Amino acid sequence: MSPALVMLVCLLLAVAVAPLLLQAATLIGKPGCQTSCGGVDIPYPFGIATEGVNVNCFLPGFEISCAKNLVPVLANTKIEVLSLSVMPRPEARVRLPVAWTCYNSTGGLTGGSNGTVDLNQAGVYRISDAYNELIVLGCNTLAYTNSGPADDRYHNSFYTGCVSYCKDSRSAQDGKCAGVGFCHVEIPPDLTDNWMHFETSWSHANQTFSPCDYAFIVEKEQYKFKVSDLTTMPVSQTMPLRLDWAIRSNIRAMSCAEAITRPDYACVSQHSECFDSTNGPGYLCNCTRGYEGNPYIVHGCTNIDEFSRPDIYRCYGKC
Ligand SMILES: *[C@@H]1O[C@H](CO)[C@@H](O)[C@H](O)[C@H]1NC(C)=O
Ligand SMILES: *[C@@H]1O[C@H](CO)[C@@H](O)[C@H](O)[C@H]1NC(C)=O
Ligand SMILES: *[C@@H]1O[C@H](CO)[C@@H](O)[C@H](O)[C@H]1NC(C)=O
Ligand SMILES: *[C@@H]1O[C@H](CO)[C@@H](O)[C@H](O)[C@H]1NC(C)=O
Repeated sequence: MSPALVMLVCLLLAVAVAPLLLQAATLIGKPGCQTSCGGVDIPYPFGIATEGVNVNCFLPGFEISCAKNLVPVLANTKIEVLSLSVMPRPEARVRLPVAWTCYNSTGGLTGGSNGTVDLNQAGVYRISDAYNELIVLGCNTLAYTNSGPADDRYHNSFYTGCVSYCKDSRSAQDGKCAGVGFCHVEIPPDLTDNWMHFETSWSHANQTFSPCDYAFIVEKEQYKFKVSDLTTMPVSQTMPLRLDWAIRSNIRAMSCAEAITRPDYACVSQHSECFDSTNGPGYLCNCTRGYEGNPYIVHGCTNIDEFSRPDIYRCYGKC
């Protein structure tokens, strides 16, 4: 083909593809529903209750509020949403508060918070064990979190935490993780809240260089230790972390095999398939191979169009 002909073919393809792209773009949410807030996309099953719309803009448990029309939060909470995704990984990035305890110079407890937020009112979220870690800051500090159902011997089936120690203000160093002033560990699966427990019987007397202990779950590689955080991290600090979500509730969670026969089965698009959740019970939908988009919406999964994808279609931008 001559270069002119190649160019013409490319142009024709671009024209043919444009309407398909427009259609795909509108299918992020249910028709008429508000699908963005403060620059954050809100894809169904997430949704914002929208006035004058005749459909449910979200599935139970996935409601987002658009606070002051600027900041998306999980409905009925103050938990800020940073991003939401359906494909390729079902994920919600949010900011959660740090847990803390503070002591005075004689070692008396002066205040604290266990970090609990009403994150999981409907039970759809689990804190991602793959993408987050637990961090503890302090001197002479043991903190842990736990998860999983109770067994005969303990209240929960997983406990994880770490010990952070320092002799004085000089023994901890920025960016160094050697258990001095700072420690971090992996977290267990099936965590439904960022509740933390501090061992308060370890003495904190004469520790004005580190009067408070902190514990939080944060996205891996996001937090870099600073010695100054031992004295100056505000107790109102929040940290970004990743939540896994699935179609489930506190009352009932179904596997694909069970859900597929029911009228409220969520994988409604053609070319969608069902997967059982791997972090907690319940199920997830995905577009099948070669399709992309939103499997939770009728006609949501669309053929991956090589021509509209400069990353795949090498002719684009060059011809
Ligand atoms: C869902 O589809 C995406 C894109 O095709 C793929 O990367 C991902 O692994 C799929 N998820 C599962 C659970 O198979
Ligand atoms: C430290 O706190 C304890 C109890 O919380 C209190 O009894 C004690 O007086 C406080 N000490 C100082 C120096 O403020
Ligand atoms: C965490 O603290 C809150 C507020 O002080 C309290 O209501 C709640 O019972 C505590 N939760 C746990 C599991 O300790
Ligand atoms: C704290 O310092 C005071 C004064 O130096 C000392 O008397 C006390 O024993 C110390 N307490 C602890 C627990 O180290």
